[in-house]
Amino acid sequence: MPLESHPLFLLGVTKGSSQSAPLRGEVRDRAVAAALRGGSMEDDTWAECQEVAVRIARTAGQMVQEAVNHEKSVSSKSTPTDLVTEADQQVEDLIISTLRERFPSHRFIGEESSAAGEKCVLTDSPTWIIDPIDGTCNFVHSFPMVAVSIGFAVKKELEFGVIYHCFDGTLYTARRGHGAFCNGVRLQVSKEKDVSKALILTEIGAKRDPNTLDIFLGNMKKLLSAPVHGVRIIGSSTLALCHVASGAAEAYYQYGLHCWDIAAAAVIIREAGGCVIDTTGGPLDLMSRRVVAAGSREIADYVVQQLQPINYGRDDHDP
Ligand code: IPD
Repeated sequence: MPLESHPLFLLGVTKGSSQSAPLRGEVRDRAVAAALRGGSMEDDTWAECQEVAVRIARTAGQMVQEAVNHEKSVSSKSTPTDLVTEADQQVEDLIISTLRERFPSHRFIGEESSAAGEKCVLTDSPTWIIDPIDGTCNFVHSFPMVAVSIGFAVKKELEFGVIYHCFDGTLYTARRGHGAFCNGVRLQVSKEKDVSKALILTEIGAKRDPNTLDIFLGNMKKLLSAPVHGVRIIGSSTLALCHVASGAAEAYYQYGLHCWDIAAAAVIIREAGGCVIDTTGGPLDLMSRRVVAAGSREIADYVVQQLQPINYGRDDHDP
């Protein structure tokens, strides 16, 4: 499709069109941006980047939603259950090319660029960390849990995150020190500390060998027999993490996810008052392919103690 006729261009996200074309949702985006600024025009170094991220996430999400109704070209990556579609690649290409034109000195880590062989390394430079379609398997099946996720880090510190739910249009945003929001309304994690009253989310990951499945099911069995209220798997790490941020679930854990599944959501959970840590209980390592997130440190620590590790390697190492 020529760029001039692409929805991102028509919606004014691409270079040359941002000054003239009225943006769909622009008024809402300004409200979200104002909320994120916390009313202050100072200390807004990355506010412009975040406003651009909100517009791109929203329009990319609308592209994904439209693509759901068309035939999908599906193939697999690291394992037969690690799916990718042409839409994943097209949406990522557009997001990155648009951002690169606007912010030429910035660096980019994208799920599909990494799958195509680009190095996945976090430096001190301003870096965009992008999952164009999180929940690709859901997207393939038209199961309505699919998101666009855009995180942004500077000096290896996560500065803001934007996650757009492609099916219902929910927009999650957060910037470090400025709070977390869902459609502009402030988010607050669950204050529950008692794990026996917790709803816990997880995801399976792409490996299905017997040893991995034994450990995965063993971890889930330990939590179920705590007993927690329930364990859920929704097929999108980023949306699951957003449910922890909104207080709909008390915790999330996973082995096998990637930096682009965690980056945006980590800011959103922290700014909603929660914690995002390593499965060992130490600080989060964005490239480690594992995470525990929770509303309270007590529940995070309980989950950490139950987990037997699954080794998926690291995002910043060659496979
Ligand atoms: C995946 C999904 C899935 C999770 C994987 C992720 P993708 O992202 O979030 O639920 O189990 O670990 O990588 O491939 O759909 O973008």
